[in-house]
Amino acid sequence: MEKESDRGKELDCYYTELFKSINLQKKDLIFPIFVSENSAYPSPEGNAVSGLAKIVPKDVIQHVQNIIEKGISSVIIFGIPKKRDLRASSALRDDGIVQNSTREIKKEFGEMINIITDVCICQYNLSGHCGLVEKSHSWEGDIINNDSTLALLSKIATSHADSGADVVGLSSMMDGQVKCTRSALDASGFRNTKILAYSAKHASSLYSPFRKTAYNRSITNHKDIDKSSYQVGYANPRQIVREIQADIREGADMVMIKPSLAYLDLVLLAKEYSMLPVVVQNVSGEYAMIKAAAKRGWIDEEEWKIKCFVSMKRAGADSIISYFSTDIADYLDL
Ligand code: PBG
Ligand code: ZN
Repeated sequence: MEKESDRGKELDCYYTELFKSINLQKKDLIFPIFVSENSAYPSPEGNAVSGLAKIVPKDVIQHVQNIIEKGISSVIIFGIPKKRDLRASSALRDDGIVQNSTREIKKEFGEMINIITDVCICQYNLSGHCGLVEKSHSWEGDIINNDSTLALLSKIATSHADSGADVVGLSSMMDGQVKCTRSALDASGFRNTKILAYSAKHASSLYSPFRKTAYNRSITNHKDIDKSSYQVGYANPRQIVREIQADIREGADMVMIKPSLAYLDLVLLAKEYSMLPVVVQNVSGEYAMIKAAAKRGWIDEEEWKIKCFVSMKRAGADSIISYFSTDIADYLDL
């Protein structure tokens, strides 16, 4: 009879070969971290099925230390502030949750870690939308004011850069956000701060586990927030090419496609139409689907997290943001 340990060895070997064949390396991996100002509800155990881990400010250094020890050199920081208000004012504060965390991590680890900050207002305003809400009527839904959001976003990005962010990740999907942010950064002397443009962020229910973690309790209807007026639609690859080209013209340093698995043709397309690095985000719902099915014994977790990474890389991803990144780093050590 086959021994457990023999099977383990065979699998290890198989995975190592698979990663080698597509040239996946630790430097390609980015790990998301959620820092919450609300120390009453941390969930460091997180990650069980779809509950993503949240940490409180005092644990940030230890958390990042653990990530660095796995050989991962990039993180993306999402902030969860204590209070929301109409104009998302806590996203701008010099002592805001992302600004403080960034400063602390940089002070401790310097060049050892590459910090991407998430620039958006949906964790900070009352609506949960990524832009400022102009009007909200039950009969026509929420109307977002694109242009008044731009100035706010570029101020947030500048304050992140000032705290030491290496890359600002523009996730709100407002038109013109790259251009506006690039000029604000340059005007404040942050010419070296790079811009990760979320060029093709699709409207999707696959963001639900993220919203459940990142939106504090005041937003109870997180599944009903309809972002389809600014996030991209599902079936129009030519629009994706246009979005990518626009972001490149506006000054993006990297472009992004998200979610990942049902969009890999677009990753290939992005590689074809741009000379910039392409980042792919394997989102919370994709993570949760694997976790939940594996927990019930329906699929093999190890097999599927590995195959996800292989498929993203095969399609052309240069970097991958995923809640599985730390697990994958472990496999790469085998
Ligand atoms: C919000 C934001 C979302 C995600 C990243 N930034 C959710 C949304 O657009 O509603 C999703 C990430 C994930 O699901 O892992 N700006
Ligand atoms: Zn947002």
